[in-house]
Amino acid sequence: MAGQFKNSVVLVTGGGSGIGRASALAFAREGATVAVADLAVEGGKETESIIRESEGTAIFIEADVSKASEVEAMIDSVLGTYGRLDYAHNNAGILGDLAPTAECTEENWENVINTNLKGVWLCMKYEIPKMHGGAIINTSSVFGLKGGQNLPAYIASKHGVIGATKAAASEYAHRGIRINAMCPDAVRTPMQERFMGKPFGRAPEEVAQAVLWLCSEASSVITGEALTYRKWKRRIAESQ
Ligand SMILES: NC(=O)c1ccc[n+]([C@@H]2O[C@H](COP(=O)([O-])OP(=O)(O)OC[C@H]3O[C@@H](n4cnc5c(N)ncnc54)[C@H](O)[C@@H]3O)[C@@H](O)[C@H]2O)c1
Repeated sequence: MAGQFKNSVVLVTGGGSGIGRASALAFAREGATVAVADLAVEGGKETESIIRESEGTAIFIEADVSKASEVEAMIDSVLGTYGRLDYAHNNAGILGDLAPTAECTEENWENVINTNLKGVWLCMKYEIPKMHGGAIINTSSVFGLKGGQNLPAYIASKHGVIGATKAAASEYAHRGIRINAMCPDAVRTPMQERFMGKPFGRAPEEVAQAVLWLCSEASSVITGEALTYRKWKRRIAESQ
C-alpha cells in the first residue's frame, strides 16, 4: 500500500548500509519522513541523498549509538526537525572480531556489547519518552536465539537485545508502544560479506518488508516478540 506511512516520522539507526538502508528506503517509499542515523557519515549521507532524489524527505544524523550523549542529541535532532517520532528501527550493529570465547579480547567484548546491546537500550531510553504510541523494532539476529562459533560477544549481545525488547514491550504496552525484535538469518550486506568472505544471504529488502509490517496496523496485536524469517513470513501471510 503506497503511502501507508505518510505523515509519520521514522528513525533508522545504522541507516547508512545494509538492512538499515533498505529499511530507510522502504519507509520513504511509503511516504514516511526518515531520520537516517549512522556513525559512518558517507553511508548515512548517501542514504539521505537516495531518498531526497526520489522526492522523499530525510535527514542524516551522525551518531554513535553506544554513547548516551550522542543518542540523546540524535533524538533531540529528530524532535527539533520534525516535531515527533512515530517509529524507530534500532538496527545499528557490528560483528566484532572473529575468535572463540577464550580468545575474545576485553576490548572486542566491550565494543560489541556497547554497540549492539547498550546501543539498543540507549535508543529505547531516549525514544520512548518522546513517543505517543507507534512501534519500535530492534534488530537482533538468529544468533539472538541460538549459539554459534567465534562470535561470543555478538551472540551474547543479540540474546540481550531480545531480553531488552521483551522487558520494554511489557513496560510500555499500556502507552500503546509496541516493541519487537527482528531475528534475521543471513542477509546480503557488507557485514555478512565480511563474515562469509563473499556476498551471501537474503536481500535486505526482505527484512525491511517485515520491519514495515511490524510498524503497520496489520501487526497491531504483536508486541514483545522475537521474529525469525519463518515466523514473520507466516505472521504476514496470516494477517493478509
Ligand atoms: N547481515 C546479516 O546477515 C545480519 C543477520 C542478522 C542480524 N543482522 C543485524 O542487522 C543489523 C544491520 O547489519 P547489516 O548486516 O546491515 O550491517 P552493515 O555493516 O551493512 O550495516 C551496519 C550499519 O551500522 C552502522 N553502525 C555500526 N556501529 C554503529 C554505532 N556505534 N552507531 C551508529 N551506527 C553504527 C555502520 O556504520 C553501518 O552503516 C546489525 O545489528 C546486525 O547485527 C545482520
